[in-house]
Amino acid sequence: MIPGLATQLAPPFRLVVTHFIAGLLLLPVVWALLLVDPSPLSGGLFGNRLLAVVHVTALGFIAPIVIGALYQIVPVVLGVRLTSVKAGWTALALVLAGLAGMAAHFWMGRFSPGLAIASTLAAAGLFLAASNLIASLRFVKSWSFGGVLIAVSLVFLLAAAGLGLALALNLVFPYFSSDHVSWLKVHAHLALVGWLGSVVMGATHKLIPMFTLGPEPPSRASAGAAALVFGGLFLLFAAWRGIAPHESGSVGAVALIAGAGTYAALLVRSFAKRARKEIDTGLRHVLAAGAALLAACLIALAAVLPGFLGPLWVVRFSLAYGFLLFGTVVVLIIGMLYKILPFLVWYHRYADKVGLEPVPTTRDIFSEGTARLLFPGHITGGLVVLFGILAGEPILLRAGATILFIVNAGTARLLIGTISRRDDGDS
Ligand code: HEM
Repeated sequence: MIPGLATQLAPPFRLVVTHFIAGLLLLPVVWALLLVDPSPLSGGLFGNRLLAVVHVTALGFIAPIVIGALYQIVPVVLGVRLTSVKAGWTALALVLAGLAGMAAHFWMGRFSPGLAIASTLAAAGLFLAASNLIASLRFVKSWSFGGVLIAVSLVFLLAAAGLGLALALNLVFPYFSSDHVSWLKVHAHLALVGWLGSVVMGATHKLIPMFTLGPEPPSRASAGAAALVFGGLFLLFAAWRGIAPHESGSVGAVALIAGAGTYAALLVRSFAKRARKEIDTGLRHVLAAGAALLAACLIALAAVLPGFLGPLWVVRFSLAYGFLLFGTVVVLIIGMLYKILPFLVWYHRYADKVGLEPVPTTRDIFSEGTARLLFPGHITGGLVVLFGILAGEPILLRAGATILFIVNAGTARLLIGTISRRDDGDS
């Protein structure tokens, strides 16, 4: 049982789980797209279909689940109410409507005014969600490391969405005079490292010790690690934009990786001191996400070492790097959902019935056995896709996409089944 995850201050549970359901339904769509056409992962970097696949993952799966989880976690961690529930619903509708238009335009390679409208809708949804949460933070009385990182993550989200919108408008009405690829790299890293990196650090700092009954990593050392990550990120941006010398980009990359490594080491130390020794399926996903992140860092280092790789391998390594970064976040989210969701569903459906009538346990409403069966599928599918990217081999990519389509649909069915479980007399 994880009582620290629920509070009377949380918004209506329907708002939170609707975000989770939307994300869970859209993840298999990513693999369906790659089954239809695996070419986005087999060569042409920055191709329009790759943009469709990237944004269905980012805005269809990651954004709704992370934002839904923040609606639940911010009141718990920071003791404040979400400013507006209505704005929460509107933001979700805007992101999903905008994503549908963006994905369709990217997939067809149509950079028409429709893309500008769709991107404006999606960006407006992200702005609304982030500003709704930021407005709640005005009332925070006591800030923890996790709370500060959540606040930082929202600023990165605003910046990533703003620059994403600027890039989309530039595709329709070209206006960036200088090299737009550097802006593209800044946008992708604002989102993947700035936004998601700070969400991951903020959430794992609180949740991993909660799940494992271990000590929280020391806040000061965690803050130092986060400062290295963000400092390294801004140095990279400065080098990409030509504000700082080219070599400072390598210093930035090393600082970023050192910060991520230090934070991971702090988490591992807390994990080693845990009181709950059992490693359940949720935690296995967290460990797999850590391994994917390590692999992403190694691949990134190899890709930026001057002269280490030829042009073809730089493209393949860059795709593998992006795939592993997204994979880290996706696997971590699935693991966290396995840990959090059954408890939240149980809390909202049965907590007030305890002692009055027989109530099921979380084990009755969530099949840990099914989750355990799906786990090797996630790993196998991920590895097959990774080898497919490195070999540039569409058959491997299709095989991996098939496996991941099946296991992600299975994960969606398992978790949505837990959410929508009905009992006699349930309201
Ligand atoms: C409303 C929000 C967003 C909009 C309008 C948007 C728009 C765009 C556009 C137009 C590009 C291509 C730019 C070009 O080729 O010139 C792009 C690339 C990219 N975006 Fe976004 N984006 C948004 C949010 C996000 C988020 C939340 C993430 C990740 C979590 C993300 C990750 C990426 C990545 C990784 C690329 C590079 C893809 C590649 O290498 O081909 N974007 N985005």
